[in-house]
This record gives sequence, structure tokens and C-alpha cells, in this order.
Amino acid sequence: MKITLRLVVSLIIVVAMIAIGFSLYQVKIERERLVRELERRTALLSESLEESVIPLVQSKSFVKIKRFVERFGNRERLIGIIVNDFQGETIASTKAISGYAHIILPQVLNSISEKKTIHSFKKIDHKEVFIFTKFFEDEEGNVTGALSLFQDSSFIDIRLREIWKYNFLRLVILSIVIVGITLLVVKWSITGPIAQIAEWVRDMRLGNEKEKKKTMALNNDVFAPLVKEVTQLAKTLSKVKKSMEEEKIRLDTESLWNAEKLKAYTSDKLGDKKLFVISNREPYQHLKEEGKIKCVVPPGGLVTALDPVMRVCDGVWIAHGSGDADRLVVDEKNKIRVPPDNPSYTLKRIWLTKEEEDGYYYGFANEGMWPLCHITHERPIFRLNDWIYYQKVNEKFGLAILEEIEDIESPLILVQDYHFALLPYLIKEKRPDAKVAIFWHIPWPNPETYGICPWVRELLIGMLGADLIGFHIQLYCNNFLDTVDRFLESKIDWEQFTISKKGHISFVKPFPISISPAFSTNNINTQRKDALKESLLKEFDINGIYMGVGVDRIDYTKGILERFRAIERFFEKYPQFIEKFIFVEFGAPSRTHIKRYRELLAQTEETADNINWKFQTKNWKPIIFLKGNHSHEKIMPFYMAADMCMVTSLHDGMNLVAKEYVASCLEDSDVLILSQFTGASRELKDALIVNPYDIESMADAIYFALTMDEEEKKIRMKKMKENIMDNNIYKWAANLITELTRF
Ligand code: G6P
Repeated sequence: MKITLRLVVSLIIVVAMIAIGFSLYQVKIERERLVRELERRTALLSESLEESVIPLVQSKSFVKIKRFVERFGNRERLIGIIVNDFQGETIASTKAISGYAHIILPQVLNSISEKKTIHSFKKIDHKEVFIFTKFFEDEEGNVTGALSLFQDSSFIDIRLREIWKYNFLRLVILSIVIVGITLLVVKWSITGPIAQIAEWVRDMRLGNEKEKKKTMALNNDVFAPLVKEVTQLAKTLSKVKKSMEEEKIRLDTESLWNAEKLKAYTSDKLGDKKLFVISNREPYQHLKEEGKIKCVVPPGGLVTALDPVMRVCDGVWIAHGSGDADRLVVDEKNKIRVPPDNPSYTLKRIWLTKEEEDGYYYGFANEGMWPLCHITHERPIFRLNDWIYYQKVNEKFGLAILEEIEDIESPLILVQDYHFALLPYLIKEKRPDAKVAIFWHIPWPNPETYGICPWVRELLIGMLGADLIGFHIQLYCNNFLDTVDRFLESKIDWEQFTISKKGHISFVKPFPISISPAFSTNNINTQRKDALKESLLKEFDINGIYMGVGVDRIDYTKGILERFRAIERFFEKYPQFIEKFIFVEFGAPSRTHIKRYRELLAQTEETADNINWKFQTKNWKPIIFLKGNHSHEKIMPFYMAADMCMVTSLHDGMNLVAKEYVASCLEDSDVLILSQFTGASRELKDALIVNPYDIESMADAIYFALTMDEEEKKIRMKKMKENIMDNNIYKWAANLITELTRF
């Protein structure tokens, strides 16, 4: 039985018992009062009748007596009179009651013998009758007879019944009122607050604790002590939950980020929302080759890093359609699902005119911004015409993304790189609800260097449209804040690393980009390292013991010439390695419409040729230069078989080749030679860190790498591998999404 029902039933029983008790008492008192009253009245009547009856009895005028009782025997409540002589014999009786003379005889005799007035109640003709008997005597005091009056007393019962009826009605009304009030009080003061507390506790248990409910419960006085205790309990529970969540996050963080984990994470963070990525370079390029259409992955860290993320998160990647067969494979909205073997996200291609491509991409982005940000002593070129095209193309991409997000509330947009510095502002101006991040894949120089650009302010304002500005390392964040501080009117918080301009806040944070942990397992090569190396070298008809590898876009920032010079110096210094060490360089020609890049390509080939000419023997040469855009599948066996890899960039935002090599090398007995001017050198501290401008020590580093103790190689490589596995691209994306969805 519910507590409320129990309470109500108990209350009704108690109230009923009290009401019955009081009614009984009231009835008793009332009855006594009525009887007394009846007795008094009957006595008075009897006295007045006696005055007439006594002389008649004494004179034995029986006929007169009979006439008298007949005349006076039926008044108001009086229903009859009986007169008896001193022996109890009936002298006269009212007709209506004459049949009952015998039932009052004992009472009459008693009154005569004891000389007292006696009354009683009897049922006569189903009526309650009050019978009053009084003796009478002569002057000498001798009892001469008795007079009995029969009064109708049924009014007493009627009156008492009325009392019962009235009290019962009162009990019913009282019960209804009491039950109603009880129910309300119980609801307001007990069940209501208890339900609130229960709901609150349940919410806490389920993790949807609401401040409002907490306050409601706290307002209740009756439960104040309980609420106090529960609050205490809740706080403890909350602390335990928090620490459990922290522990979970710690464990989650400790466990490796992978595609599944990122998928679960993004669906939790974004729900149904898709991710929008904008970059100049498209992740898949369609090219015409021998009458067929071939799909290739263009070289460069941006694509290597972001493609695995987009495969997991789905969404739309907007990029310049630069392949000569790109238009042939897209739909009417210029879209295509990629990758071709497992379509997982949408690539939307934007077409650029030759003038746009020349001005925006080759001109402003790659002859201006690229050398500006990479301090490689390559003079940046800024032309007004290029700048105009840069703005135009940013606007073109801006329109494309605005169209894509038209029906999406608070879309998440990741703008990529130095090609789109103006885009965050263009998007936010039209869609302030959009969450926009720009990730800068290349270094950010100091303010003096950056100040060379004639449009430094415009570029900074464009970037500050973003809610989040990401760089690979902290140094670039510092430089960025310094630059904004130097050139723009804004409020900089050096503690939080935020820039506030016209009420909009941009967070500036480092997000070291990385590769997929699945990178190395993409290629199944069951051969052992030495066998693999032998078979690879055989393809080039070359003999050797040690193999080094380099993988680059042919770009002056990559320090390829410096690397070749170091190899040359190495053979000069350590000739014992002639015919033993071979360096394989994969060089992907890049931005070849730019003269400097064409020159560099020619210079690279020439340098390799010269060195080969200088040292080569019949079956051996020091450098194998493989020019072309090689797929990951082609490069992977070389990563696996090489004894060392050289990444000697003169300046590099991150450099993912370094990470790819560490992730894929077999047996952990390899060495990475890494430029101190790469972002990667901040993480891969167990590489042999070199200054690429210092040819002498680079030559020594090659020697050191080839002669390093096996155990040391293993220790170094293990640590670097762990670092890359832990800080992989899925973690990078998760961090970026976490930060972006925080505001
Ligand atoms: C760097 C840049 C990327 C660029 C890549 C390849 O990694 O940060 O934005 O895509 O080089 O350069 P490309 O000009 O061929 O796209």
C-alpha cells in the first residue's frame, strides 16, 4: 500500500473513531436532557391531573373518572392515562392503551408500595412510550391509588437519529476535507520534494544533473537535512564521476587513436554534421594517360595527413580541380565520391582559369607566401596582379563553401594553408555561426620577415576571421602573435594565446600534424629487410650493403642539394663506404611552371650526376635519383629496406616523410637523419638532428648513422615509433575538432 493511501486510511479511521465517540457522548447527553425534560413535563401534567382525579377516586365516582381519562387522555404527546386504586386494580383507562394496563402493573404496585414516582420506557404499537406512574394519597397519608401517564417519546429517537445523521454527514465532509488537505500537503511537502530529489539524484546518476532541480529541492525546509546530506553525497558522487571520467579520458587518451576511435569521437562531437575541408591541392587527381583516365594522389603532407581523417569523418573537401581529366569524372555539381576504391567522402572541385592559377597559385601563393614563410633565403616576389588573383580565388572558394553550408547550422569548416589566408574572414562575415579553423601547414616567420609582404595587414585580418588558428609548433604560434602585435590594432592575451579583434576572438594553438598509424601496415611485404634491400638494388643493377632513402617534392625548402653535397663529402671523408652505401632519392617535380623550381630540378639532377660521376664504379653509384610522382606503394619498400633516411629541409612546417619513414621501417634498426629546421625535429628527438647548412657535420651524421650500435638504433627508433603512434593524425584531428567545438 502506498504511503499516501496508508496515511489517508489511518486518518479517516482516527477521525471516524473520534466522531463516533463524540456522537455517542452527544447522543447520550441529548437523550438524558430530553428524558429529563419529558419527565418534568409529565410530572407537571400529572400534578395538574391529580387535582381532578384524586377527589373522584376518593368519592368512588368511577364513571366520572372514566370520562375524565377519556377526555384528557389524548393531548399533544399524551397518548393515554390509567388510574389504579390502592391495590393496583385499574379504575379507568384511556381506550387507546387499555390493553396495556397489565404491563404497567408491576410499576404501579411498586409506586404504591414504595410511595414513589416511577417511570419507564416501553414499546407499544412499535412506538417508544414513556410511562410515568405516580401514587396519590388521602389527607392522612394513606395511598389511595396511582395515576399513570403514557407519553409518546418517539420524538427522542427521531432527535437522536438526526444527531447521528448530522454527525455522519459532518464526518464525511470532514474526511473529504482532511483527505484533500492531506493529499496536497503530502504532495507539496513529501512526495513532491521526494520525487524531485529522486529525479535529481537519478539525473546525477545518469550524468544529466541540472542546476534548476538542485535548487528546487534545496528550497524545501522539511527535507533540508536530507537535501543537505544528498547534496553532500551528490558532490562526492560528482567528484567520483569526474575522476572516473578523467580516468576514462586518460585511458582513452592512452589508448591509441585510430580510425574507429575518431569516428566514434566525431559522431559524438558533431552528431550528423559533416566536416568541410578547403584546400588548394585536391586529394585525388584524375589524369589522362595513354587514352585512359588514371587517379593519382598528389605529393605533399597536406593530402597525406587529411585524407585518412576525411575517410573517417565523411564530409565535403573543396579543392582546385587541377587534373587534366578532373572534369570528365565529376557530376553536374562538380562533385565526386573518393577514394575511388572505397568512396568515403565527397570531393568538390573548383575550376580556375589559367590566369587565376598563375596569379593566385604560382604567383602569390608560391612565389610570394611560400618563400616568405620558409626562411630559405629565397627572395619572395609580390606582384599586384598576383595579389588581385589571390583575392579573387579566395572569394571564389568562399562562394563555393557558402553554397555548401547554406542549410547547415553552425557548420565546421577547416581551411587549409597559405593559399586561403583571406577565407576565414570571408566565411565568417556571411556566416558568423560557422565554426572556422585555419591550419597553416608551413612555418610562420618572425614579424620582420613577414613584414616584407605589402599586404601583411589584409592577410592577418583574413586569418583572424577564424575561431581557431593552428600551426605545427609553438614557435610559429609565438611568431604569429608577434606579427599581429606588430601590424594590427588588436588585443592579445599572451597567457591564453588569443587575439581579440572587433569583439571576435581567435585562439592560436599548435597542432603537430602526423600520419595514420595504419601507414606502415598498408603495404604487406613479407620479405626480411636485407632480402628486400638486395632485390630492390638488383632492379637498378647495383651492388651495395647500406641503403639510404630520401623522399621529397623538388622544392628549394627541402635541402636536397645540401643533402647531396653531404653525401659527396661523406664519401670524401669516409671512402671505405664507396661501393657499399647507396642513396635513393625519390624526387617529385613540383610547381614546375615556376622558373625557380625548374632550375632546381635541373640543378638537382646535375648535382646527382656530378657526384655519381665522381665516385661511381662499374657496378655501383652513390645516388639513384628517381624523378617522378611516386605512389606510396612504390616508396614503401624503400622505407622498409633502407638503413637510414635523410630529411634535410632548410625549413619545413612539419615534414611527414620523417614520420612515414619511422612508422614503416622494419626491424627498428634504422636511423633517421633529421634537419633541426623541421617541425618534426621537435617530436622526433631520437633522430640524428642536423643543421642542413653544415655539410661537414651532415657527412659525419651519415657515417654515424651507418656505424651506430644496433642496440642504440633500436632504442632510438622504438621511442620515435611510439611517439608517432601516440600522436597520429587521428589524434591531431580529434584535438582540432575538440578545440573548435569548445567555443
Ligand atoms: C606543402 C603545403 C601544401 C601543399 C603541398 C604540396 O605541404 O603546405 O599546402 O599542398 O606542400 O604542394 P603543391 O603546391 O603541389 O600543392
